[in-house]
Amino acid sequence: MEALAVTAVAPVNIAVIKYWGKRNVELNLPTNSSISVTLSTDDLRAITSVAVSPQFSEDLFWLNGELQNLIGSKHINCVNILRKERALLEAADPGLKKLSNWKIRIISENNFPTAAGLASSAAGYAALVFSISKLFELDLNQTELSKVARVGSGSSSRSLFGGYVAWQAGNLENGDDSVAVEVAPVSHWPNMRALVLVISAGKKSVSSTGGMQRTVGTSTLFPARHLKIVPERMSQMEDAIRAKDFGSFAKLTMCDSNQFHAVCLDSYPPILYLNDTSRAVISFVHYFNEYYGAVKLAYTFDAGPNAVLYFLEEDSAQVLSCLKPVLPAAKIPFEVDEGPSGFCFDAMDMLK
Ligand code: DP6
Repeated sequence: MEALAVTAVAPVNIAVIKYWGKRNVELNLPTNSSISVTLSTDDLRAITSVAVSPQFSEDLFWLNGELQNLIGSKHINCVNILRKERALLEAADPGLKKLSNWKIRIISENNFPTAAGLASSAAGYAALVFSISKLFELDLNQTELSKVARVGSGSSSRSLFGGYVAWQAGNLENGDDSVAVEVAPVSHWPNMRALVLVISAGKKSVSSTGGMQRTVGTSTLFPARHLKIVPERMSQMEDAIRAKDFGSFAKLTMCDSNQFHAVCLDSYPPILYLNDTSRAVISFVHYFNEYYGAVKLAYTFDAGPNAVLYFLEEDSAQVLSCLKPVLPAAKIPFEVDEGPSGFCFDAMDMLK
């Protein structure tokens, strides 16, 4: 009896320059580049165990304890890309075990609410791709792995790196240059903090993929965003990160979130992700910054009403004390994370 297994953990990332729009839906090639910060608290990550064995008779995948249908899924697409990479190694070295032919079992847990708008798919695909690459002993770096994770979910390409990460849109039709790269490591600016305000844990009103296609197809404001404004903001944001200029970082983050929601509103029919509470958070943040006479706090919203606030550790007491009356329970802010990590373990339990 033989089984090999790896477990990997991967963190979430929250974009500060948003990915919104695909030029190729199947390969998840974006219309514009994006930038994010990789974040975690001690217990908010995706954890994925993968095992292969000649005894497994079919590929199986459990997400949060529930068996998923793998046929035609993006998960199996990622697995198969990595199997091909493994097969190349096996062809070059006949002494290697033929793991590419063995069936796989995947057990993935998000130890945070999947529906709470915390970019769970980004962490999930990053953990999947990272763990399989270790299992297959592939000689692929994080940028090369980001290409595989991207096929699962665009934003997951950025969770292959820790710290501050850019996903370059690329130009090639096959997506070979649509990859994530590091802008700066955690050590460069480790005092960044993020707080998630869960305003609604309900499902998204419009899926990211569906929403993006609607915006690409109908918004007349969208071309200005992806052709002109985002390219300018990408370099401004990279400069702000390199200079550790929180004021510029925060302003760009808020403007880009607002513009992403503006092109959603400009889509037909309009896509409305924010609600009255989201808008109250926006007003609060501007009031806070005005009160302190400096831009110390930033908001950003993904495809839902939940707010993510960015601030620096030195301002966390002020931020948390202002938010205390409205936060249901004390929340530990997210810290900048170092990216995925993995370890091998005995897989015999998975054979049962
Ligand atoms: C608003 O990565 O979830 O969070 O590629 O279709 O899986 P798919 O979309 P996804 O979209 C994320 C959109 C966003 C912005 C961002 O994270 O950059």
